[in-house]
Formats: sequence, structure tokens, C-alpha cells
Amino acid sequence: MTQVPSDAAQSAHVLSARGVTVRYGGLMALSDVRLDVPPRSIVGLVGPNGAGKTTMLAVLSGLQRPASGRVWLRGEEVTDASPQARARRGIARTFQQPELFMGLTVREHLVLAHRVRVKRRRLWSDMVDPRSLLPPSRAENERVEGLLELLNLTRVAKAPVAALPLGVSRLVEVGRALACEPHVILLDEPLSGLDMKASENLLSVFARVAEHVERDISLLLVEHDVAAVLALSSRIFVLDFGVLIATGTPEEIRNDPAVRAAYLGDDELSGSQPPPSWGHVHGGVEA
Ligand SMILES: Nc1ncnc2c1ncn2[C@@H]1O[C@H](COP(=O)(O)OP(=O)(O)OP(=O)(O)O)[C@@H](O)[C@H]1O
Ligand SMILES: [Mg+2]
Repeated sequence: MTQVPSDAAQSAHVLSARGVTVRYGGLMALSDVRLDVPPRSIVGLVGPNGAGKTTMLAVLSGLQRPASGRVWLRGEEVTDASPQARARRGIARTFQQPELFMGLTVREHLVLAHRVRVKRRRLWSDMVDPRSLLPPSRAENERVEGLLELLNLTRVAKAPVAALPLGVSRLVEVGRALACEPHVILLDEPLSGLDMKASENLLSVFARVAEHVERDISLLLVEHDVAAVLALSSRIFVLDFGVLIATGTPEEIRNDPAVRAAYLGDDELSGSQPPPSWGHVHGGVEA
């Protein structure tokens, strides 16, 4: 990993990418894509199905090697760094299907995630036999209680995650990401499958996290729900067929003809009124 002072813009951002190209056989999943996430911000990455959003997150987190292009994390180039090395440098992510240990409680998840960050060698013994989990220290407790509060999870702290509705599992995933004390969290469709109430709760938590005073944290939010992204993000990047077709403020994106054209062909929105509202009814499955 090398320092790249050549472009001041890159070092001013928590996460940056330039010229990212990914091919799957003959398919151009991403073509010369750039992206910037400033500190303490919520950035949206949107686009119709198959636009390349998940692929872009995989490139940023190190799971997918691009054919070309470069990635910087807090001004330092990480293009060749493993996902683990990037995680240590401050990238966290959540998955579309929460990957949780069903027998553990909400609090235990956060304690474990915090220990991974603080004492990496403890992880293996805790994982092999999570029930042998040592009682949290005072410092761990303080940190975890703060997170539970931030995420509105105090009420369910002692509940096993298996018993929780999807919306709460998503919050636990966000909590686990936060416990690793990242500088940026990549979120792939965190609202999918949630009803309106659960979505609103999650979005208000995102807003609180980005304003969190303790530490610089940014969120990169991949979402189908364009209305939610426009409401929450300070900057939005729009992909279509692997190409960055627009970037700008919510206002600029709302009025961008290329974005409108891309979305009017999208099933998600073609049944609803065209922009500017862009809201669509959530296909909620649970509270
Ligand atoms: N492992 C893979 N092998 C081959 N093609 C792939 C692979 N992963 C993704 N693709 C293709 O690359 C393109 C971009 O996929 P990607 O999953 O990044 O899109 P997306 O914007 O996340 O879509 P969605 O909104 O449906 O989640 C799609 O055409 C997809 O079919
Ligand atoms: Mg996707």
C-alpha cells in the first residue's frame, strides 16, 4: 500500500475509487467508474437492477478484483489490499441477508464484534465456544451500551437474534459493523424486505450514526428505494449498465434527464409516478 498524495481530493475522502472496470466474461459489469465518500457523510449509490452496485461494493471492500481501476481508503491506496486488511483500515460492511449467530443475544453480538477490534486473538476461542464468552469488561460494557442506545436496541439486548424480526436483525448487523469502529460502512440494500415502519426506523438510525459525535463515520448506501436515498444522502452516484450516468446532490439527481430515463425503464418505478417524488410502496413482509 502506498501513499498517494498526487490527488488532494482522494486524501480528503474517506473512500475513493477511480477508473473501476469489472468484466464478467463478455459483460461489462462496471466501466470506468469513480466514486468518492467524504468524511461524516451519507452517500447513495443507486441504479436499476444489474447496474453494478453490488459489484462496486465488492470492489471497494476487496472481494472483487477490478480489471482496472484504483481504490483509496483515507488517502492510502488499498487497490491490492485484502478484504481483511481493508477492514483493519476502517471499512465495514453489512450483507443483504444478515449473517448472525442465531443462538447469541443482541448484546453478545456487539461484545464479540468489539473484541475482534480490540483483542483480535480472542475471537477464535469466543467463536468456537461462544457460550464461554467471558463477561464483558467495564470498558466493553460502556461501549456496547452506547451502541445499543444509538441503535434503539436496548430493549432487545438480551434477546437471542433468532427471535428477532428482520428489521431488528439489520440493526444488529449495523451495530456489529459499528463495534469494529470503522470509518465507512458499506450497506447493500439494507431496506429490502422491510415494511415502511421498519425502514423509517433504520433510516433514522443511519442519520444518527452519520451525526455521531464520537468518531468520523460515513455510510455508503446502496438502495433500490431511490426516495429514501435522496432523502438521506448528501451526494448520490447513479449507475446504469455499469456506467456512472450521474453524480450530484439530491436536487441535481432529481432533475437529471439521464437518471429519469434510466429509471423510467425500471420495473421498480415504472408503475409509479415519474420523478420528482420517486417514492414507491415497500413490499413489506414484517414489522
Ligand atoms: N459473479 C458473476 N458472474 C457473472 N456475472 C455477474 C456476476 N455478478 C454479477 N454479474 C452481472 O454483473 C451485472 C452487475 O451485477 P450487480 O449484482 O453488481 O448489479 P446490482 O446493481 O447490484 O443489481 P441488483 O439491483 O439486482 O442487486 C449484472 O448484469 C449481473 O448479472
Ligand atoms: Mg445488488
